[in-house]
Amino acid sequence: MSEMATLQVQGKTYNLPVVVGTENEVAVDISKLRAESGVITLDDGYSNTGSCRSTITFIDGERGILRYRGIPIEQLAEHSTFLETAWLLIYGELPTAEQLQCWSHRMTQYEMLHEGLYKHYDGFPSQGHPMAILSAMINATSCYNPDVIKMESAETFQSAAARLLSKTRTIAAAAYKTSIGQPLIYPKPEYDYCSNFLHMMFSIPFKEYEPDPDIVNALQLIFVLHADHEQNCSTSTVRMVASSGANLFASCAAGVCALWGPLHGGANAAVIEMLKYIQDSGMSVKEYVAKVKDKTSHIKLMGFGHRVYKNYDPRARIIKAAADRVLNKLQIHDPMLDLARALEEAALSDDYFKEKKLYPNVDFYSGIIMKAIGIPVEMFTVMFAIGRMPGWIANWKEVWEGGARIYRPRQVYVGPTEREYMPIGQRKEMHIPGISGEAAMRGGCQ
Ligand code: SDX
Repeated sequence: MSEMATLQVQGKTYNLPVVVGTENEVAVDISKLRAESGVITLDDGYSNTGSCRSTITFIDGERGILRYRGIPIEQLAEHSTFLETAWLLIYGELPTAEQLQCWSHRMTQYEMLHEGLYKHYDGFPSQGHPMAILSAMINATSCYNPDVIKMESAETFQSAAARLLSKTRTIAAAAYKTSIGQPLIYPKPEYDYCSNFLHMMFSIPFKEYEPDPDIVNALQLIFVLHADHEQNCSTSTVRMVASSGANLFASCAAGVCALWGPLHGGANAAVIEMLKYIQDSGMSVKEYVAKVKDKTSHIKLMGFGHRVYKNYDPRARIIKAAADRVLNKLQIHDPMLDLARALEEAALSDDYFKEKKLYPNVDFYSGIIMKAIGIPVEMFTVMFAIGRMPGWIANWKEVWEGGARIYRPRQVYVGPTEREYMPIGQRKEMHIPGISGEAAMRGGCQ
């Protein structure tokens, strides 16, 4: 018999089952609370709410632990490849040599886009954000793969997952080429996943890009470290959309949109913009940190802080170590790396950050490496999306296989109580900032 939690509300007592996870996380199961009591819970930003049981990724934010299917991220970063890690996340075990070969073959099999899809790029303006293009083109790809719409079998799922994972890099590289007005480059079957992506990004018709092993390895590391992260904003979005029965492509396209935000996947680009701002302004690290601490500035130290990690993000530690290694290998000296280190040192010795347990997260150093391997800043969040695709696919599969109920949170209504409809002549204008009746009367709404 599991332990029970007791809730007393409005003079009544309710007993609620306690759930304990395999890593001894304790949760109160409130699935039946409203039915039994009419009461719901309220949790701004879901900081205290578990949306599901999951077997994919474990994070211990207090101890800075991250494991994919039980394997520590440090070991995967050192020994694994992106494709192997993707298989682990999606299917739960590391692949055998034969499974990995077949998986790699499927990536090659599905690396091309339907010619009709390539035509879509002619319609995108060069200043179109690659995250908008990525989300749109993932959804558009499902139009050319109707079998993924009606996911009916494990075989269909495996094919759909392989298609999505393989084509995401082709779509992303094509978005970049469109933004710089260069012709789209077709994938090359002899290349591995990361080399092929770099080829499609940087080859031009008369000059083939030669994948540099150090750059390929650095990209591999970036993708492995971004591959999953339990119920973050974008993964929760994928699960939310999946719970309605929406297909894999639609769900992951929604994940791309959620990841775009500067508080989430957009932070890696925001870190570089922040470092550039500090450099251009001539401001000292001390002065910038003071601005961050001044609430009226509304400035955040981008790449710092995390909803779950109240310790160093293990991915940040790995990327920080790799940054030196990669830049030295490529014989690049980037003053931004020195500035990032100085900023980290200043923050970690400042009570504001220590008291709020704000540490570098995955985005603080990742941009330094991506910049060093030639990825343009506007593509940073797209790189995050390519890396996170296996995690999204794994979570979609967990919802699809688990027969999850449709996600439909409740709310606490704090709007107007019942009132009568008012004829237009009796209404008083309510001031809405930026819109006023007079402006509308003058024939042009502000
Ligand atoms: C990712 O969830 C995931 O797992 C995400 C991710 C993944 O792999 O999927 O790890 C990837 O999104 C990493 C986070 C990238 N975002 C950033 O680096 C943007 C900067 N960080 C912050 O915006 C913030 O730390 C968040 C969004 C990451 C977390 O926000 P929370 O948990 O809602 O924390 P909060 O905003 O309530 O902050 C608590 C306090 C506040 O001060 P008080 O109101 O208590 O006085 O800490 C302050 C915040 O003002 N604070 C910061 C800060 N982050 C939090 N102050 C300055 N700089 C910051 N970066």
